Amino acid sequence: MCGIVGYAGARQALDVVVEGLSKLEYRGYDSAGVAVLADGKVAWEKRAGKLANLTAALAQSPPMAGTVGLGHTRWATHGAPTDPNAHPHTDCGEHIAVVHNGIIENFADLRAQLQAAGHVISSDTDTELVAHLLEDEVAGQSAPGAGSLAAAMRAVCQRLDGTFTLVAVDARDPDVVVGARRNSPLVVGRGHGENFLASDVAAFISFTKQATEIGQDQVAEIRADSVTVTNFDGTLAQVRDFVVDWDAEAAEKAGFKWFMTKEIAEQPRAVADALVGRTDAAGRLMLDEMRLTDDELRQVDKIIVLACGTAYHAGLIAKYAIEHWCNIPCDVQLASEFRYSEPILTRTTLVIAISQSGETLDTLMAVRHAREQHCRVLSVCNVRGSSIPRESDGVVYTHAGPEIAVASTKAFLTQLVSCYVVALYLAQVQGTMFASEIDTVLDQLRAMPGAVEEVLEVMGPVREVARELAAEPCVLFLGRHVGHPVALEGALKLKELAYMHAEGFAAGELKHGPIALIEPGLPVAVVVPPPKDMAVLHDKVVSNIQEIRARGARTIVLAERGDAKVAQFADTLIELPVVPPLMQPLVATVPLQVFACELADAKGHDVDQPRNLAKSVTVE
Ligand code: F6R
Repeated sequence: MCGIVGYAGARQALDVVVEGLSKLEYRGYDSAGVAVLADGKVAWEKRAGKLANLTAALAQSPPMAGTVGLGHTRWATHGAPTDPNAHPHTDCGEHIAVVHNGIIENFADLRAQLQAAGHVISSDTDTELVAHLLEDEVAGQSAPGAGSLAAAMRAVCQRLDGTFTLVAVDARDPDVVVGARRNSPLVVGRGHGENFLASDVAAFISFTKQATEIGQDQVAEIRADSVTVTNFDGTLAQVRDFVVDWDAEAAEKAGFKWFMTKEIAEQPRAVADALVGRTDAAGRLMLDEMRLTDDELRQVDKIIVLACGTAYHAGLIAKYAIEHWCNIPCDVQLASEFRYSEPILTRTTLVIAISQSGETLDTLMAVRHAREQHCRVLSVCNVRGSSIPRESDGVVYTHAGPEIAVASTKAFLTQLVSCYVVALYLAQVQGTMFASEIDTVLDQLRAMPGAVEEVLEVMGPVREVARELAAEPCVLFLGRHVGHPVALEGALKLKELAYMHAEGFAAGELKHGPIALIEPGLPVAVVVPPPKDMAVLHDKVVSNIQEIRARGARTIVLAERGDAKVAQFADTLIELPVVPPLMQPLVATVPLQVFACELADAKGHDVDQPRNLAKSVTVE
């Protein structure tokens, strides 16, 4: 939530920062702002609304020349998304400009203290307080100038409760940008004669792929020719450098109307990439980033999967595979509820935290809680170097590449594949499957990119029905077994993109209440289990479809190709390739993604940036 960029180098900072913000807009898009240092002053511009409003305002303003600057794209927490509440915020002397991602929880106390000391606070934000706190800290130093902003930032951070990434500049220290982080993301990009600070590598990937992770409670000071990272206590910090493993083009739309359509189309490749390098020369599974020893994994007698939103749905599906292949009880919990449910955890409980961004604060806090209780934590993440893998005992990266659209698509499929690989690895270590059985499932997984490709080729009817239903107020989704989380995911996609009431139900629950919702014309999408391998459940779902049709529902049926029993009850039939039951979510979810995307587009919504949402949820 909120995207931040800082730059110190030889280029015009404004250009670099605005370009960086355009790559980070997915993180928040209700206002945007920039500040540039020039001629001993800080110049800034900020606007409510999307980045386009800011760039239009910049085009009308006097040029902001300068090679040191920062920028912000906002997802509002404190204060409505107005021009005054947009970042950056400045101090009374207008020397310092600050941008912030997160929430400062002791906001009220700090505001009262600053006002009592005579500071004039002109916005409703918690961020502005940091500018005034920095002002006091810098003023308290013997000689404002070289090095003082970083020292002031360290001191201020120790007075803040809550979560924050902060980036600041001070016109009296004109070569420097300072960033700090606690529980929110911040990375350094290292160029030649230029350095960057950003919430996400996407902001600087077109300039450099060399990056440095900033750890918890650390302050980074960047200049054109140096990067210094210290802990909040002023000691030099140990940092980890990494090379970004994707290209700038991966974060471009490449001719697609939306990032989401591009990311849906990329799924065959993403699934294939998630499987690359998972076996050794002898064909045995290996997970090189796992960091958990086989001895530790052999002792695991309970698994808890923690995640939010779409990643939670991936966890709900993974549970079936884990229990089936590993014979280990698996519980799946919403990360935001986990700590408060007094979970029963032991040293032999393995926690699997699934997160695309690796920054979701609910999941991060749940991971910390699990580790405090001495559980081993394995994360399944997409973003390298993000907080959740940093704080886990082991990690399996999903290798989906950058996911820019707010609604998760390729990350979901790769989370599923990665969780399946983890389950197979556990089965290998614990001896619950024969090697030949593991090989069979690996072959099934390797066939999935082709199966997803097949689905994508026949999306015409899905798009058609989506456009027909654009004016409907509500759509229901039904499924059983692994089809139930698929139904939940279909409903979530529709809610977030089309702003429609959408609910996913376990089809067997229909008769226990939801059937009362069925009325003539109500669209109901049903994920039908495969007819041969899940004959009993298949027939029960076919009965459910008859029940809702008898009450006038309009049925959109997702069923295996050639499933003659169900075809006759489908108002719209979406045929899926023939795949094993546990693989069905990989093909059944895709039409539901396309459905939501197309329907939202038909309604004229911004598919990539749905209202009120942001990609990386760094507040609890
Ligand atoms: C839905 C969506 C969200 C995320 C959730 C968790 O399309 O994108 O529900 O899945 O916020 O995010 P990560 O996976 O980054 O932890």
